[in-house]
Amino acid sequence: MPNKVFIATSLDGFIAQADGDIAFLDTYPPQEEDMGYAEFMSGIDALVMGRKTFEKVMSFGIEWPYSKPVFVWTQSLQQLPENLPKNVSLISGNAESIHQKMNDAGLKNIYIDGGQTIQSFLQANLIDEITITTVPVLLGEGIGLFGKIDSMKQFKCCQTQLFKNGYVMNQFVKQ
Ligand SMILES: NC(=O)c1ccc[n+]([C@@H]2O[C@H](COP(=O)([O-])OP(=O)(O)OC[C@H]3O[C@@H](n4cnc5c(N)ncnc54)[C@H](OP(=O)(O)O)[C@@H]3O)[C@@H](O)[C@H]2O)c1
Repeated sequence: MPNKVFIATSLDGFIAQADGDIAFLDTYPPQEEDMGYAEFMSGIDALVMGRKTFEKVMSFGIEWPYSKPVFVWTQSLQQLPENLPKNVSLISGNAESIHQKMNDAGLKNIYIDGGQTIQSFLQANLIDEITITTVPVLLGEGIGLFGKIDSMKQFKCCQTQLFKNGYVMNQFVKQ
């Protein structure tokens, strides 16, 4: 039951600026490719999304961009806005219990999204694949993709792709 990360970072490893701004992702907009996003999403059964990432998506004020079920991980939110599709729901508990819930629901390929969320799943040894697209800019500070872990975790690079806009995608699988 693979849990997968698909995320973009700055050269110095940040997923957003300290205030949550992600404008740096569009520094050099891609001309043709979607940089693997559609292909990745086609292999996903559901998303587990951190509450802060969910709030960022909502702040765009656009139509809900996901067709797959989304589980918003939160201990603080009590309810979701009513205009969201029925396959968006809240989930609480820890990484292990969420993983078990996905398993019990027959959801196999899970997209884990949000910095703290990814870190919690990594700490629990529950990340099997990490795809990082590096945006060649330095931010100096911001919200990091990775944080403290108790023990070394080994991955193997299985694919690298350089896009025309200079972004580099590296895909790693758990060893
Ligand atoms: N560069 C990219 O590709 C990319 C992708 C995704 C997100 N982002 C950006 O990253 C930022 C958000 O990331 P983030 O790291 O700040 O937060 P996040 O992981 O999106 O959300 C954190 C929240 O998720 C819940 N959560 C996470 N781990 C938990 C745990 N172990 N136990 C219980 N609840 C847990 C908590 O919600 P409660 O506080 O409600 O309990 C926590 O505050 C946004 O700015 C977003 O735009 C960037």
